[in-house]
Amino acid sequence: GAPVEVDLSKLEVGQMVKVEYRGKPVFVVKRSDSVVESLKNTKIDLKDPKSENPDQQPEYVDGEIRSIRPDIMVLVAICTHLGCVPQHKKVTEVDWGGGFFCPCHGSQFDLAGRVFSGVPASKNLEVPPYSYLSDDRIIIG
Ligand code: FES
Repeated sequence: GAPVEVDLSKLEVGQMVKVEYRGKPVFVVKRSDSVVESLKNTKIDLKDPKSENPDQQPEYVDGEIRSIRPDIMVLVAICTHLGCVPQHKKVTEVDWGGGFFCPCHGSQFDLAGRVFSGVPASKNLEVPPYSYLSDDRIIIG
């Protein structure tokens, strides 16, 4: 599949855009500084908090926040259980720092795509290969 460019210039903090790369949905989310801090100091029990499974991300992304630039998260939106598309859940409730919820069997992932303990999915959501063309543009692929 061809690489896909994404314009970040109109993406507000907390918002998500969905694009398609190689026939798969890809979510691009802009995270606030406080979300990024909470991801580094998470209190959630995660199966792979430092993303030690190398199949799930390129080696140039940070293992904890799982991105190149802290605010911009790029994830393949395919649940690592049986392949449903998870829903983006914004930071709204007291006990929920935002993330992704899979409606098929209830797997949950944080805003770095890291899978929670106690859910059917066992791997973090995949981070596709991408790079920055400029401050406001990334290219996936
Ligand atoms: Fe997502 Fe089963 S496919 S929890």
